[in-house]
Amino acid sequence: MLTVTNLYARYGKIEAVHGISFHVEEGEIVTLIGANGAGKSTTLKALMRLPPPEAPVVSGGEILFAGQSLLRIEPHVVVDKYKMTLVPEGRHIFGNLTVMENLQLAAWTRPKHTFSGSLERIFSLFPRLAERARQRSDTLSGGEQQMLAVGRALMADCSVLLLDEPSMGLAPLLMLEMFRTLKQLNAEGLTLIIVEQNAKLALEVADRGYVLDTGEIVAEGAARELMQHPRIREAYLGG
Ligand SMILES: Nc1ncnc2c1ncn2[C@@H]1O[C@H](COP(=O)(O)OP(=O)(O)O)[C@@H](O)[C@H]1O
Ligand SMILES: [Mg+2]
Repeated sequence: MLTVTNLYARYGKIEAVHGISFHVEEGEIVTLIGANGAGKSTTLKALMRLPPPEAPVVSGGEILFAGQSLLRIEPHVVVDKYKMTLVPEGRHIFGNLTVMENLQLAAWTRPKHTFSGSLERIFSLFPRLAERARQRSDTLSGGEQQMLAVGRALMADCSVLLLDEPSMGLAPLLMLEMFRTLKQLNAEGLTLIIVEQNAKLALEVADRGYVLDTGEIVAEGAARELMQHPRIREAYLGG
């Protein structure tokens, strides 16, 4: 469904991604793992076609979605037509708005009559958000803010969800809960691309994975196989 071939991405003169290739099939969970600075977020921002300076310029290669190039299209087309949505690192929710207002804002492009159905789904996935619907978002815990960020993405009627470090800042129990929910979303038909420094957690839920190291893919395969690989165990899974 999504095929990335020989992708190069740079910020000004500095190249952050040096010719990577990977693919994601419909219904899969694919993870990109790697250390801080490996180019994981850069890759997601390139896929979403976000503009510089926060996002990179794609300086080579191709991104195809169902055979169509994403290279010369506007970011809103990626969301509206290709139904890809990014949950960015750092969450990007509106702290001065309530949980409910954040979810309403995220749904502004979709038909009004579909709103309450989506809201119900999100509240059943994340009951804590339902309890806190009228609470200001900046008073939520880190874990609840991460749930809200995922909830916002689901409000946007997406079929491919890109998650940048969904485990970041979460206590261990909430991490497990978050990944269980992601697995459930996948079982309901959502395709997931998960970028993680927490390789163990990501490989446990993913079908396939790619290991990024300083802008290059150094290993790829079934998540199960990557987890068994001695070099990957040593470098990313704590031996
Ligand atoms: N907006 C930016 N401007 C300039 N350089 C950036 C920017 N974002 C990231 N970089 C650089 O690109 C490289 C890859 O970063 P990033 O994709 O954020 O890595 P990761 O998400 O794997 O931690 C790093 O060297 C980082 O310093
Ligand atoms: Mg990152």
